[in-house]
Amino acid sequence: MSQVNSTATFYDYFTEKPMGDIVIRICEGASCVVNGSEDLTKVLKSKLNLEDEHTTEDGKVSVEVTYCNGHCDQSPTITVNDELHTNVDVFELGSIVKEHLK
Ligand code: FES
Repeated sequence: MSQVNSTATFYDYFTEKPMGDIVIRICEGASCVVNGSEDLTKVLKSKLNLEDEHTTEDGKVSVEVTYCNGHCDQSPTITVNDELHTNVDVFELGSIVKEHLK
């Protein structure tokens, strides 16, 4: 049981809770943090009224932190339902989220 739990909680893409219809993963690897990804996380969680929880009450959007999407030279990066977005700033993040919420 311990080995199953260790595996399930080690990998970012395994979850123990149901995920929203839209899953946004913000990279907080070193390169992305240096280029502002922590601000993206704060702004998005604030807009979606997420504090400790990671999925909105209506189950539409989940926000998670991940560590390196493999495009550090184009940081900060996010994925939305596994679609990669690079060089994301707060304004672009808003546009991306709105587009997916349509
Ligand atoms: S640290 Fe974010 S893509 Fe590598």
